[in-house]
Amino acid sequence: MSAADRTPVTAVVVGSGIAGLVTALHAAAAGAAVTLVTKDVLESANTRYAQGGIAAVMFAEDSAEAHLADTLAASAGLADPEAVHVLVDEGPDRIRELVALGVAFDRTPEGAFRRGLEAAHSFPRVLHAGGDATGAAIEQALVAAVRASAVRVIEHAFLLDVVVADGRARGVELLVDGRRMRLRTDAVVLATGGAGQLYAHTTNPVVATADGIAAALRAGAAVADLEFVQFHPTVLAAGEPFLVSEAVRGEGAVLVDDSGRRFAFDAHPDGELAPRDVVARAISRTIARQGGRPALLDATALGGADTSGFLAERFPTIDAAVRERGLDWADAPIPVTPAAHYLMGGVTTDLHGRTTVPGLYAVGETARTGVHGANRLASNSLLEGAVFGARTGDVLAADAARSAWPVAVAMPTAPSDTVRPVPARHATAFSRSALQQLMWEFVGLERDATGLRRAADTLTRWSAEHREPRTIADFEDENLLRVAREVVAAAERRTGSVGAHFRADDPGTGGSAPAEPTAAVVAC
Ligand code: SIN
Repeated sequence: MSAADRTPVTAVVVGSGIAGLVTALHAAAAGAAVTLVTKDVLESANTRYAQGGIAAVMFAEDSAEAHLADTLAASAGLADPEAVHVLVDEGPDRIRELVALGVAFDRTPEGAFRRGLEAAHSFPRVLHAGGDATGAAIEQALVAAVRASAVRVIEHAFLLDVVVADGRARGVELLVDGRRMRLRTDAVVLATGGAGQLYAHTTNPVVATADGIAAALRAGAAVADLEFVQFHPTVLAAGEPFLVSEAVRGEGAVLVDDSGRRFAFDAHPDGELAPRDVVARAISRTIARQGGRPALLDATALGGADTSGFLAERFPTIDAAVRERGLDWADAPIPVTPAAHYLMGGVTTDLHGRTTVPGLYAVGETARTGVHGANRLASNSLLEGAVFGARTGDVLAADAARSAWPVAVAMPTAPSDTVRPVPARHATAFSRSALQQLMWEFVGLERDATGLRRAADTLTRWSAEHREPRTIADFEDENLLRVAREVVAAAERRTGSVGAHFRADDPGTGGSAPAEPTAAVVAC
């Protein structure tokens, strides 16, 4: 039989952010027949909202070793060095690929990339496009590439479940225009983003309801590190939450309290450019100290005499959002507060996106590749989506042709039966906003045993009240509930503080952290 006569391997990619789009393009280039499904339109993904940029080693004075060291340090030592090596070594190729696809990263008049500095980077290596519209520029170019490719696209298709038969992923069950539809494929890739909608305050769009992680759990896939939820330090505390990129602090903006005092240096010698979890907690404590009034981000010194022109040119998206709210950040500090931003944990994968279920892959924020540990380095998320999306797309057709499908090894987790139930005081009925408030209050920037138990008991009660899901919102609620329970269980298991997981009842130690081995590959 000639190669042309062979039936191509079929794959479905669920999700249309950078990770899903890159996976789809690479899988199609490797010969797979790819269908990409997304629950809204292609362009509607978290990627579109990324501002600061994408970190990669693109300058002679920089090095992969420096990017690796920064990523490991920000991760509170819990990132997997092998995974981070892959990330920083392959990042530059992915950037060149994005450029070839038409992403117009900002450049100097001489044609060099403009570079931004963000927290915990020892070198200004963050590329950006349209000033602070990097994600939008990348999403637009990748969507155009997918539309021009052989990838079949189904929009408004909600993932109900991964179809598993004989221990292998065999496709997906979808809800499309109110009807159930089953797609049978050799491989399934989950690229549905994170779980920002678990929280009352988030930078994430409404589509970030943990659908892929919940489906992976139902399919029997292992998850890890779900206790590590990143809270972005600076979200506009006026009107709808709006991200104010870390790049603004990278350009020199400072954080002050009500009395005008800079407080970030109280928490860390790097002040405003300390790792994100440190700055977020410093802001949250300042807000608590001043009776709930937001902290202030002072950008009035940026750009010298032409502050207004500088801010509008360097940060046009934020500038517009600030001004829409009737504020003038060239003239006065703006109110900011932390909000849930990114899930470091997710579905356990090896370095090619393979989960513990044969035929099932996870990429981007849905995946736990090991590159982020307990706290993600700023602007490493778009990079992770591109690097591991490409690796996944490159191998899945070949994996399907192997006699034994390779899978990742599950990571051990500590037992969770050491915690005692406490009487639930939250007798509130379930609603999405009640769930989000519960998570914000008890599973937020600071946690303790009592609050976590209260959250766990409430979630257990809500889960036991069976509701027949009918609408997409109902299915999303089920997903959020399921993943919330996993996040809380993971947070209870990790009894000490590390990175973004801060236990107020054990602030000074790493506690009983589960071991963090590399997810190796085995065949099954
Ligand atoms: C930001 O621009 O501050 C967000 C970038 C990121 O989440 O890495």
